[in-house]
Amino acid sequence: MTQRPKRPAAPRNADFYGAPVGVGPRYQPPGPPRPAITAGHTRPEKPPLSKQVTTLWDYPSQHYGQTQQGSQSYEGATPSYVIWNVIQRFSEPGATVLDPFCGSGTTLDVCRDTGRTGLGFDLAPTRPDIQQADARSIPLKNATVDLVFMDPPYADNLDYSDDPRCIGKLKGDGRYQRAMKLAIDEAVRVLRNDGVLAIYVCDVFKKDRPFQPLGFDLFAAARQYLDPIDVVAVTRHNRTLEMGNFRKAADEGNFFLRGFNYLMLFRKRAPRPDQESR
Ligand SMILES: C[S@@+](CC[C@H](N)C(=O)[O-])C[C@H]1O[C@@H](n2cnc3c(N)ncnc32)[C@H](O)[C@@H]1O
Repeated sequence: MTQRPKRPAAPRNADFYGAPVGVGPRYQPPGPPRPAITAGHTRPEKPPLSKQVTTLWDYPSQHYGQTQQGSQSYEGATPSYVIWNVIQRFSEPGATVLDPFCGSGTTLDVCRDTGRTGLGFDLAPTRPDIQQADARSIPLKNATVDLVFMDPPYADNLDYSDDPRCIGKLKGDGRYQRAMKLAIDEAVRVLRNDGVLAIYVCDVFKKDRPFQPLGFDLFAAARQYLDPIDVVAVTRHNRTLEMGNFRKAADEGNFFLRGFNYLMLFRKRAPRPDQESR
Protein backbone atom coordinates (compact mmCIF):
# COMPACT_ATOMS: atom_id res chain seq x y z
CA MET A 1 0.00 0.00 0.00
CA THR A 2 1.44 3.38 -0.94
CA GLN A 3 1.83 5.83 1.90
CA ARG A 4 0.14 9.15 1.32
CA PRO A 5 2.66 12.02 1.42
CA LYS A 6 2.69 14.14 4.56
CA ARG A 7 0.33 17.04 4.42
CA PRO A 8 1.63 20.56 4.77
CA ALA A 9 1.65 21.97 8.30
CA ALA A 10 -1.36 24.18 7.61
CA PRO A 11 -3.70 22.39 5.20
CA ARG A 12 -5.99 24.38 2.95
CA ASN A 13 -8.91 23.58 5.18
CA ALA A 14 -7.11 24.91 8.24
CA ASP A 15 -8.94 27.37 10.39
CA PHE A 16 -7.84 30.96 10.67
CA TYR A 17 -5.18 30.03 13.20
CA GLY A 18 -3.54 27.60 10.83
CA ALA A 19 -4.68 24.46 12.66
CA PRO A 20 -7.06 21.83 11.29
CA VAL A 21 -10.59 22.62 12.36
CA GLY A 22 -12.77 20.27 14.29
CA VAL A 23 -10.01 17.85 15.08
CA GLY A 24 -9.72 16.84 18.68
CA PRO A 25 -8.11 13.79 20.17
CA ARG A 26 -7.62 12.62 16.63
CA TYR A 27 -5.14 15.27 15.51
CA GLN A 28 -1.52 14.16 15.76
CA PRO A 29 1.09 16.51 14.32
CA PRO A 30 3.97 14.69 12.63
CA GLY A 31 7.16 14.06 14.59
CA PRO A 32 8.10 12.53 17.92
CA PRO A 33 5.72 12.50 20.91
CA ARG A 34 5.06 15.96 22.27
CA PRO A 35 6.26 17.07 25.68
CA ALA A 36 3.86 18.59 28.19
CA ILE A 37 2.02 21.52 26.63
CA THR A 38 2.90 24.38 28.92
CA ALA A 39 4.09 24.70 32.46
CA GLY A 40 1.26 23.67 34.73
CA HIS A 41 -0.51 21.69 31.96
CA THR A 42 0.97 18.21 32.13
CA ARG A 43 -0.90 15.24 30.71
CA PRO A 44 -2.38 12.96 33.37
CA GLU A 45 -1.10 9.39 33.76
CA LYS A 46 -2.86 6.84 31.55
CA PRO A 47 -5.39 5.14 33.85
CA PRO A 48 -6.49 1.51 33.46
CA LEU A 49 -9.19 0.97 30.88
CA SER A 50 -12.69 0.62 32.35
CA LYS A 51 -16.27 0.92 31.14
CA GLN A 52 -17.65 4.45 31.04
CA VAL A 53 -20.83 4.78 33.08
CA THR A 54 -22.18 8.27 32.32
CA THR A 55 -23.05 10.08 29.10
CA LEU A 56 -19.86 12.14 29.42
CA TRP A 57 -16.87 10.04 28.38
CA ASP A 58 -13.27 10.88 29.01
CA TYR A 59 -9.89 9.18 28.87
CA PRO A 60 -6.60 11.03 28.69
CA SER A 61 -4.98 9.05 25.90
CA GLN A 62 -5.60 8.19 22.25
CA HIS A 63 -4.58 4.59 23.02
CA TYR A 64 -5.03 2.20 25.93
CA GLY A 65 -2.45 -0.22 27.32
CA GLN A 66 1.18 -0.40 26.26
CA THR A 67 0.56 -0.60 22.51
CA GLN A 68 -1.25 1.44 19.88
CA GLN A 69 -4.63 0.68 18.38
CA GLY A 70 -4.76 2.12 14.87
CA SER A 71 -1.93 4.53 14.26
CA GLN A 72 -0.68 7.41 16.36
CA SER A 73 0.50 9.15 13.22
CA TYR A 74 -2.81 8.85 11.35
CA GLU A 75 -4.43 12.25 11.16
CA GLY A 76 -8.02 11.48 12.00
CA ALA A 77 -7.73 8.35 14.16
CA THR A 78 -10.48 7.54 16.67
CA PRO A 79 -9.58 7.32 20.38
CA SER A 80 -9.52 3.55 20.89
CA TYR A 81 -11.19 3.59 24.31
CA VAL A 82 -14.36 4.89 22.62
CA ILE A 83 -14.52 1.87 20.31
CA TRP A 84 -13.55 -0.46 23.19
CA ASN A 85 -16.47 0.85 25.26
CA VAL A 86 -18.96 0.54 22.39
CA ILE A 87 -17.83 -3.03 21.69
CA GLN A 88 -17.96 -4.04 25.35
CA ARG A 89 -21.46 -2.66 25.83
CA PHE A 90 -23.12 -3.53 22.55
CA SER A 91 -21.66 -6.80 21.30
CA GLU A 92 -20.86 -10.27 22.54
CA PRO A 93 -17.54 -12.09 22.15
CA GLY A 94 -17.41 -13.54 18.65
CA ALA A 95 -19.71 -10.87 17.21
CA THR A 96 -19.10 -9.37 13.78
CA VAL A 97 -18.18 -5.68 13.91
CA LEU A 98 -18.02 -3.51 10.78
CA ASP A 99 -16.16 -0.22 10.37
CA PRO A 100 -16.94 1.23 6.91
CA PHE A 101 -14.60 4.25 7.44
CA CYS A 102 -11.74 2.23 8.91
CA GLY A 103 -8.86 4.73 8.48
CA SER A 104 -5.81 3.46 10.36
CA GLY A 105 -7.63 0.33 11.58
CA THR A 106 -8.35 1.25 15.21
CA THR A 107 -11.60 -0.74 15.19
CA LEU A 108 -9.85 -3.84 13.85
CA ASP A 109 -7.23 -3.69 16.59
CA VAL A 110 -9.86 -3.25 19.31
CA CYS A 111 -11.82 -6.18 17.84
CA ARG A 112 -8.70 -8.32 18.03
CA ASP A 113 -8.19 -7.30 21.69
CA THR A 114 -11.79 -8.11 22.59
CA GLY A 115 -12.39 -11.32 20.65
CA ARG A 116 -14.71 -9.87 18.01
CA THR A 117 -14.50 -10.39 14.25
CA GLY A 118 -13.64 -7.03 12.75
CA LEU A 119 -14.45 -6.12 9.14
CA GLY A 120 -12.77 -2.93 7.96
CA PHE A 121 -13.40 -1.00 4.74
CA ASP A 122 -12.14 2.36 3.55
CA LEU A 123 -11.78 4.19 0.24
CA ALA A 124 -8.06 4.58 1.00
CA PRO A 125 -6.96 1.45 2.91
CA THR A 126 -3.84 1.98 5.03
CA ARG A 127 -3.03 -1.70 5.75
CA PRO A 128 -3.72 -5.12 4.26
CA ASP A 129 -6.55 -6.12 6.62
CA ILE A 130 -8.63 -3.13 5.44
CA GLN A 131 -10.51 -3.72 2.19
CA GLN A 132 -11.23 -1.01 -0.32
CA ALA A 133 -14.87 -0.04 -0.61
CA ASP A 134 -17.12 2.98 -0.62
CA ALA A 135 -19.10 3.15 2.63
CA ARG A 136 -22.21 3.65 0.50
CA SER A 137 -21.71 0.26 -1.17
CA ILE A 138 -20.17 -2.30 1.17
CA PRO A 139 -19.63 -5.80 -0.30
CA LEU A 140 -21.51 -7.61 2.48
CA LYS A 141 -24.82 -9.44 2.46
CA ASN A 142 -27.93 -8.03 4.12
CA ALA A 143 -28.26 -8.49 7.87
CA THR A 144 -24.87 -10.09 8.49
CA VAL A 145 -23.30 -7.66 10.98
CA ASP A 146 -23.94 -7.30 14.74
CA LEU A 147 -22.41 -3.86 15.31
CA VAL A 148 -21.34 -1.02 13.01
CA PHE A 149 -18.94 1.59 14.36
CA MET A 150 -18.33 4.59 12.11
CA ASP A 151 -16.14 7.66 12.53
CA PRO A 152 -16.69 9.33 9.16
CA PRO A 153 -15.12 12.56 7.89
CA TYR A 154 -16.60 15.67 9.49
CA ALA A 155 -17.64 17.36 6.23
CA ASP A 156 -14.49 18.77 4.57
CA ASN A 157 -12.42 19.47 7.68
CA LEU A 158 -9.58 17.08 6.75
CA ASP A 159 -8.11 15.97 3.45
CA TYR A 160 -8.05 12.15 3.53
CA SER A 161 -7.28 11.04 -0.01
CA ASP A 162 -7.41 12.03 -3.67
CA ASP A 163 -10.33 9.68 -4.33
CA PRO A 164 -13.18 11.83 -5.70
CA ARG A 165 -15.67 9.63 -3.80
CA CYS A 166 -14.16 10.71 -0.47
CA ILE A 167 -16.93 12.09 1.72
CA GLY A 168 -14.28 14.33 3.29
CA LYS A 169 -14.41 16.45 0.14
CA LEU A 170 -18.04 17.42 0.67
CA LYS A 171 -19.13 20.62 2.35
CA GLY A 172 -21.61 20.42 5.18
CA ASP A 173 -24.13 22.45 3.20
CA GLY A 174 -26.27 19.43 2.34
CA ARG A 175 -23.84 17.55 0.09
CA TYR A 176 -22.07 15.88 3.03
CA GLN A 177 -25.40 15.10 4.69
CA ARG A 178 -26.77 13.43 1.55
CA ALA A 179 -23.66 11.27 1.16
CA MET A 180 -23.75 10.28 4.83
CA LYS A 181 -27.43 9.40 4.56
CA LEU A 182 -26.42 6.80 1.93
CA ALA A 183 -23.62 5.48 4.19
CA ILE A 184 -26.07 5.17 7.08
CA ASP A 185 -28.59 3.42 4.81
CA GLU A 186 -25.87 0.95 3.87
CA ALA A 187 -25.02 0.32 7.53
CA VAL A 188 -28.69 -0.34 8.22
CA ARG A 189 -28.83 -2.80 5.32
CA VAL A 190 -25.96 -4.95 6.60
CA LEU A 191 -27.01 -4.82 10.27
CA ARG A 192 -28.99 -7.68 11.74
CA ASN A 193 -32.26 -6.84 13.45
CA ASP A 194 -31.40 -5.62 16.95
CA GLY A 195 -27.89 -4.79 15.76
CA VAL A 196 -26.33 -1.49 16.88
CA LEU A 197 -24.98 1.45 14.88
CA ALA A 198 -22.54 3.81 16.64
CA ILE A 199 -21.71 7.12 14.92
CA TYR A 200 -18.81 9.20 16.23
CA VAL A 201 -18.88 12.72 14.81
CA CYS A 202 -18.15 16.35 15.59
CA ASP A 203 -19.81 19.58 14.55
CA VAL A 204 -17.75 21.97 12.44
CA PHE A 205 -17.23 25.65 13.03
CA LYS A 206 -15.15 27.63 10.57
CA LYS A 207 -14.73 31.35 10.36
CA ASP A 208 -16.89 32.99 7.69
CA ARG A 209 -19.02 29.87 7.26
CA PRO A 210 -22.31 29.01 8.93
CA PHE A 211 -22.00 26.64 11.90
CA GLN A 212 -22.44 23.04 10.70
CA PRO A 213 -24.36 20.96 13.27
CA LEU A 214 -23.30 17.62 11.78
CA GLY A 215 -24.24 15.72 14.93
CA PHE A 216 -27.88 16.73 14.70
CA ASP A 217 -27.90 16.11 10.93
CA LEU A 218 -26.57 12.56 11.23
CA PHE A 219 -28.81 11.84 14.21
CA ALA A 220 -31.86 12.81 12.13
CA ALA A 221 -30.70 10.66 9.20
CA ALA A 222 -30.13 7.57 11.35
CA ARG A 223 -33.32 8.00 13.32
CA GLN A 224 -35.42 7.42 10.21
CA TYR A 225 -34.70 3.69 10.39
CA LEU A 226 -33.19 3.11 13.81
CA ASP A 227 -34.21 3.50 17.43
CA PRO A 228 -31.96 5.81 19.40
CA ILE A 229 -30.32 4.11 22.39
CA ASP A 230 -28.45 7.13 23.75
CA VAL A 231 -26.24 10.08 22.90
CA VAL A 232 -22.84 10.47 24.59
CA ALA A 233 -20.55 13.50 24.68
CA VAL A 234 -16.91 12.44 24.36
CA THR A 235 -14.39 14.91 25.75
CA ARG A 236 -11.83 16.04 23.20
CA HIS A 237 -8.18 16.48 24.15
CA ASN A 238 -7.13 18.55 21.20
CA ARG A 239 -3.89 20.33 22.00
CA THR A 240 -5.30 23.54 20.57
CA LEU A 241 -8.02 23.52 23.25
CA GLU A 242 -5.31 24.21 25.81
CA MET A 243 -3.41 26.83 23.84
CA GLY A 244 -3.70 30.38 25.08
CA ASN A 245 -4.04 32.01 21.66
CA PHE A 246 -6.93 29.74 20.71
CA ARG A 247 -8.71 30.34 23.99
CA LYS A 248 -8.17 34.09 23.75
CA ALA A 249 -9.46 34.20 20.17
CA ALA A 250 -12.57 32.21 21.13
CA ASP A 251 -13.20 34.53 24.04
CA GLU A 252 -12.68 37.72 22.08
CA GLY A 253 -14.36 36.44 18.91
CA ASN A 254 -17.34 35.10 20.86
CA PHE A 255 -17.24 31.57 19.47
CA PHE A 256 -16.55 28.16 20.99
CA LEU A 257 -13.74 25.70 20.41
CA ARG A 258 -15.00 22.15 19.82
CA GLY A 259 -14.91 20.54 23.26
CA PHE A 260 -16.74 17.28 22.56
CA ASN A 261 -17.58 14.69 19.93
CA TYR A 262 -20.98 13.04 19.70
CA LEU A 263 -21.21 9.30 20.08
CA MET A 264 -24.70 8.43 18.86
CA LEU A 265 -26.02 4.94 19.49
CA PHE A 266 -28.93 3.35 17.63
CA ARG A 267 -30.54 -0.07 17.41
CA LYS A 268 -32.03 -1.57 14.25
CA ARG A 269 -35.62 -2.45 14.86
CA ALA A 270 -37.30 -5.42 13.22
CA PRO A 271 -39.54 -4.21 10.37
CA ARG A 272 -43.28 -4.32 11.00
CA PRO A 273 -45.07 -6.92 8.87
CA ASP A 274 -46.56 -4.16 6.70
CA GLN A 275 -43.09 -2.68 6.00
CA GLU A 276 -40.83 -3.74 3.18
CA SER A 277 -37.83 -5.64 4.55
CA ARG A 278 -34.62 -3.59 4.39
C1 LIG B 1 -12.13 9.90 10.58
S1 LIG B 1 -11.29 8.84 9.48
C2 LIG B 1 -11.53 7.26 10.25
C3 LIG B 1 -10.56 7.03 11.36
C4 LIG B 1 -10.51 5.62 11.88
N1 LIG B 1 -11.65 5.31 12.69
C5 LIG B 1 -9.24 5.41 12.68
O1 LIG B 1 -9.29 5.26 13.89
O2 LIG B 1 -8.16 5.46 12.06
C6 LIG B 1 -12.42 8.82 8.13
C7 LIG B 1 -12.07 7.84 7.04
O3 LIG B 1 -13.13 7.83 6.10
C8 LIG B 1 -12.59 7.47 4.84
N2 LIG B 1 -13.58 7.77 3.80
C9 LIG B 1 -13.97 8.96 3.30
N3 LIG B 1 -14.95 8.81 2.39
C10 LIG B 1 -15.20 7.49 2.32
C11 LIG B 1 -16.14 6.71 1.59
N4 LIG B 1 -16.97 7.24 0.70
N5 LIG B 1 -16.14 5.37 1.78
C12 LIG B 1 -15.26 4.78 2.66
N6 LIG B 1 -14.36 5.47 3.38
C13 LIG B 1 -14.33 6.81 3.22
C14 LIG B 1 -11.30 8.26 4.77
O4 LIG B 1 -10.41 7.70 3.81
C15 LIG B 1 -10.81 8.14 6.23
O5 LIG B 1 -9.93 7.06 6.35
